[in-house]
Amino acid sequence: MATHKLLLLAGDGIGPEVMAEVRRLIDWLNGTGLASFETESGLVGGAAYDAHKVAISEADMALAQASDAVIFGAVGGPKWDRVPYDARPEAGLLRLRKDLGLFANLRPAICYPALADASSLKREVVEGLDIMIVRELTGGVYFGEPKMISDLGNGKKRAVDSQVYDSDEIERIARVAFDLARKRGNKVTSMEKRNVMKTGVLWNEVVSAVHARDYADVTLEHQLADSGGMMLVKWPKQFDVIVTDNLFGDLLSDIAAMLTGSLGMLPSASLGAVDPASGKRKAMYEPVHGSAPDIAGKGMANPIAMIASLGMALRYSFDMGELADKFDAAIATVLESGLRTADIATKGAPTVSTSGMGEAILKQLQKLHG
Ligand code: IPM
Ligand code: MG
Repeated sequence: MATHKLLLLAGDGIGPEVMAEVRRLIDWLNGTGLASFETESGLVGGAAYDAHKVAISEADMALAQASDAVIFGAVGGPKWDRVPYDARPEAGLLRLRKDLGLFANLRPAICYPALADASSLKREVVEGLDIMIVRELTGGVYFGEPKMISDLGNGKKRAVDSQVYDSDEIERIARVAFDLARKRGNKVTSMEKRNVMKTGVLWNEVVSAVHARDYADVTLEHQLADSGGMMLVKWPKQFDVIVTDNLFGDLLSDIAAMLTGSLGMLPSASLGAVDPASGKRKAMYEPVHGSAPDIAGKGMANPIAMIASLGMALRYSFDMGELADKFDAAIATVLESGLRTADIATKGAPTVSTSGMGEAILKQLQKLHG
C-alpha cells in the first residue's frame, strides 16, 4: 500500500484540540492497515508568530509543498490582534492557499437529519440538505493588486482592494463545479454581481461559454450573489453545486454552514490543479469554523468538521471513497444516537467533550470496519 505524507498544522484556539481527534483516527487507520500515513507537524498562525514572528515559517512551507495533503486546524485569536499586518495569523492560511495553488475550495453543506432542529431555520427547509459550494480561492479581491492604504495628504486616507479575475481562472473553477455536478444532482448555479462589477460580467460570460462548449448536459443557472444569499436562506434545497468567487464564496459558505445547524459541522477541501506528470494535485483540508478562542482549551469544541475534513482528504486526495463514506456514516450514526457537543445541543440536554465525540466516532468506525 502506498504511504502518503500528511502535514498537520493545528494552528490556534481550538485547532490543537480538534486536531488531536484527527491524530486518533490516523493512528487507527495506520494500525488497522486501512491506510498508511506518515505525519509531520508544523506551526501556523499565531502559534507560528509566537515561535518565529511570521504566520508560517519557510521550513513549514517546504513541508507543505512536499506533503500529499495538508490537514489544517484554525488560526487567529485576540492575542494576535496587534501583530504586523503581514504576520497576522490569517496570512499563514492565505499563503498556503496561494503558494500551493489551491484554487478550488469545496465546501459541502449537509444537514444531518438528527441535526435539523439545531438549525435556526425550520426543519422542512433544511432537512436532507446537501449542497456543495465551490469557491474560487486564489484570486479576486483577496489577492488582487493594488491592495493598499495611501495617505492623500489632505488629512484623508484612501484604501484600495482590487477584484481581479482572468478568464482562465474563471474557466478552471467552472470546470471543477461542472465535473462535481455530474457526480451529484447535475446542476450548477453560478453567482456573481454582473449588474455592478466587470468581474461579474466576465465571470458570467466565461461560465456560460464553458457550459455551452463542454457541459451542456448539466443544468446551469445564474443568480446575482445577493439574491443567491437570500435564496440560500429561503429555500436552500433548490441548489446542488454553487460556483462563485473568493469573497462571495466566503460569505455564502458561512450562510450555508449555519443552515446545517452549526459551523462546527462543515469540512472543506482546497485543491490545486492536477499535475499531468504525476496525476497528483496539491491539497489542503480544513474545517470551515475558525479558532473559536472563547471556548479554546475547554475541551468543548465540536471535532466533527475536522474529522470530516480528514474524510474529504481520503476521498479527494487518496481515492479512498469507500472509507470516506464510512467516516460520513459513522458521524451520522453518532449524531442519531443523540451524542452532542455543546454547539449542537438542544437547550438543557447533556453534552459530550471534544474527545468524547472523537472516541464515539472512532468506536462507530471500528464497528463498521469489523
Ligand atoms: C475562511 C476564512 C478565511 C477567509 C479567513 C480566516 C482568512 O474566513 O476560510 O472562510 O476569509 O477565507
Ligand atoms: Mg470565511
